Amino acid sequence: MKKGNLLIKNAAELVTCSGFEAKKGKAMSDLHMIFDGAVVVEEGMIKAVGKTEEILGQYPEENYEVIDASGKAVLPGFVDSHTHFLFGGYRAEEFSWRLRGDSYMEIMERGGGILSSVKATKAATREELFTSAMKRLDSMLSFGVTTVEGKSGYGLDYATEIKQLEVMKEVNAAHPIDVVSTFLGAHAVPKEYKGKEDDLIDFFIEKVMPEVAERRLAEFCDIFCEKNVFSIEQSRRLLTKAKEMGFKIKLHADEIVSLGGAELAAELGAISADHLLQASDKGIEDMAKTGVIATLLPGTAFSLKEKFARGRYMIDQNCAVALATDLNPGSCFTESIPLIFALATLYMGITTEEAITALTINGAAAVDKADKVGSIDVGKQGDLILLEFPSYKYIPYHIGVSTVEKVIKDGIVVFH
Ligand code: NIG
Ligand code: FE
Repeated sequence: MKKGNLLIKNAAELVTCSGFEAKKGKAMSDLHMIFDGAVVVEEGMIKAVGKTEEILGQYPEENYEVIDASGKAVLPGFVDSHTHFLFGGYRAEEFSWRLRGDSYMEIMERGGGILSSVKATKAATREELFTSAMKRLDSMLSFGVTTVEGKSGYGLDYATEIKQLEVMKEVNAAHPIDVVSTFLGAHAVPKEYKGKEDDLIDFFIEKVMPEVAERRLAEFCDIFCEKNVFSIEQSRRLLTKAKEMGFKIKLHADEIVSLGGAELAAELGAISADHLLQASDKGIEDMAKTGVIATLLPGTAFSLKEKFARGRYMIDQNCAVALATDLNPGSCFTESIPLIFALATLYMGITTEEAITALTINGAAAVDKADKVGSIDVGKQGDLILLEFPSYKYIPYHIGVSTVEKVIKDGIVVFH
């Protein structure tokens, strides 16, 4: 990807979100703002950050492409740290079943749900998967997302899991957004493995994960730890092996039933535990103590008409909270960052400042990239967004509408 030399000056608010690791609890409220701020990006990397007057004294404008951000707020690009953006087919029919009262798990247990996306993803060509994924990332980019995590898990077999991860690599190379890949083979149980879930776990451990690790097709390993999907014991076994193979780990935890997924994430030293609608007090305490990031996905709770995760409580208990879309064809078909801001602030008791931290530096930490992205700090990638308004406070205030006017990736304007 091209790298730019760019100088942004006169930003009404330069919301730096400064930091190189996840922010816990109260620290999530401090956005480290600079009024009348400027940023210098050289060869795609942030070279200087400060007041416009100081910066212009040291970095002559003629050396850069210059953006005058008068009357605008500038923030780091958003990090959407939990998505399933690469899949074949859609499940619009299921959405209408759910509107009539069928539950997500009922649909899954009768062979729909994830298994229906598995069928469509198996049938899809690489070109089809590539093209539809690129379009979804274009839409994410328009909302200010510059780094996204993407999971496999619509294959559940060797060939299709590998196909998904290979195509994700191609998407990463072709699209301005950076893609962090996660192996989620243990996402559902195909018919032939019903009642033999342990054999399926063995299959992933023996036949798929070694190749994924060796070819570096995924940095993270994840599992859907849930009643009637994979148990705590199965999750512990798979993730322990994953760690030995060099994967960083994540869990879909305590989404529908309070199984102890948050506790397991803390026990195993996972980078994040995600969903957490039913996480116990003890699980939340364990995550806060061990620094596991609580990645909350309010779009999914909203779309499934479930109660939201206890975001306010988690932050008050000193957890590091990240927010993400969970874009996927079933439980939450949205890549809308404005929707996530609306739900987090209006329904979860999360403040605007905390929500921004959750979608920038804490999102970056949830994909283990807090040293590279997620804040406007010297030495990080020049991934920035300009709002059409003078303050970050307009982000949730303009309900459900994107306030992002320009997106800059590695110092190059990629959306305006
Ligand atoms: O994060 N909960 C499991 N996995 C996804 C849903 C995937 C799907 O329904 O296709 C989630 O919500
Ligand atoms: Fe998910």
